[in-house]
Amino acid sequence: MKKRIGFIAALMLFGVAILSTRYYMVDLPVWHFFGGGQGPDPLTLHLQGEFVESNLGAAEGPAGSLTVRMIAQQFVFVPQCVVVPAGVPITFRITSADTVHKLSFLGTNYGLEAVPGVVSEATYTFAKPGEFKIPCHEFCGAGHYAMRGHLKVVPRDQFAALLPGERRTCEPR
Ligand code: CUA
Repeated sequence: MKKRIGFIAALMLFGVAILSTRYYMVDLPVWHFFGGGQGPDPLTLHLQGEFVESNLGAAEGPAGSLTVRMIAQQFVFVPQCVVVPAGVPITFRITSADTVHKLSFLGTNYGLEAVPGVVSEATYTFAKPGEFKIPCHEFCGAGHYAMRGHLKVVPRDQFAALLPGERRTCEPR
């Protein structure tokens, strides 16, 4: 009898441990079923909607506004490096494909949480050209400490000369 209680307790603990990192698999469908949230589905992020690959990185919107779209997933940011112009307000839109991550722009106090099923948005201006590492600041699993993206801030005229594909990579042209 004691053995069986121990077994059940272990099973429940295991279940709780899984739910704590995979809660969106249960929470989000329930949440969406009751009409809550219109966020992107973490499971089809790369395949459809706002966060398909061709839409990631920095893109110009109406009236010259600039939006950067990124996906956080275990254990990378997609794209790995984003190029943006200096001195221009940049709206970041980010979501997660799995668990909660957090972008932090090293050397600034800018930061943004990436939550599955939700699009987080914030607008920042980087005054001068430079390079920023983007370490993940929310424990997200075994690869957390190696999870980092890059942001390359370049002069405005240099940015204007880049093709869309060149705005989501830091490889030289
Ligand atoms: Cu992603 Cu820590």
